[in-house]
Amino acid sequence: MRLNKFLSNSGVASRRKCDEIILEGKVEVNGKKVDSLGTQINEKKDKVTVEGRVIKLPSSFVYIKLNKPKGYACTANDEKGRKTIYQLIDTEERLFSIGRLDYDTEGLILLTNDGNFANQVAHPRYEMEKEYKVTAEGEIKESEMAVMRKGVVVDGERMPPARVEWLSFENGFTKLSVVINEGQNRQVRRMFEAIGHQIKLLKRVRIGGVKLGGLKRGEYRDLTEAELNLLVRAK
Ligand code: URA
Repeated sequence: MRLNKFLSNSGVASRRKCDEIILEGKVEVNGKKVDSLGTQINEKKDKVTVEGRVIKLPSSFVYIKLNKPKGYACTANDEKGRKTIYQLIDTEERLFSIGRLDYDTEGLILLTNDGNFANQVAHPRYEMEKEYKVTAEGEIKESEMAVMRKGVVVDGERMPPARVEWLSFENGFTKLSVVINEGQNRQVRRMFEAIGHQIKLLKRVRIGGVKLGGLKRGEYRDLTEAELNLLVRAK
């Protein structure tokens, strides 16, 4: 098997990113540094490491949906020592999340040990829709929603247009539904900062055809066959 395919199937990164990691000289096969992109390996016999970490193909695939609570990081080892989503899941498998949610965001996140699947679902080419429920301070006007629908400019960077629907206004807070395709860093929070409304609660409720459903905060379960098909068929 080609080395970059082995690395991406093991969940190291996308195939293109794995090429970069190889060229940077971070990969060793049987103790020898490899920096040629065409390298073939025997996945059953060869010992592959990335920066000293042994990389293995998963023995069986796991696909999970989790309701991430606020106050959990999506990194495996958080540099600030904060709680991580991996502490919520009881498994021996080395899982990784498909995309991320901010520390303060809650809701639907998908995890797997299938690198190939994760890279495909996360690929911008497939424009997987992500739906959020937002509670923001103040009364949000139609003109402000129009700005977000058009694509707001934040710090000189244009956020792509979003589908924005007004849901309610109660006790000084507006509730909205926001649907985006791309997942730029802190995209929803930055959109609301740009129109001058602080977000109080941000919750992801859907990725493509997969809904958060009735999962309680911190709860997780395997994706059903039907849910997996929705993600694969969207491509
Ligand atoms: N947009 C954000 O601002 N934060 C998230 O966690 C997800 C989308």
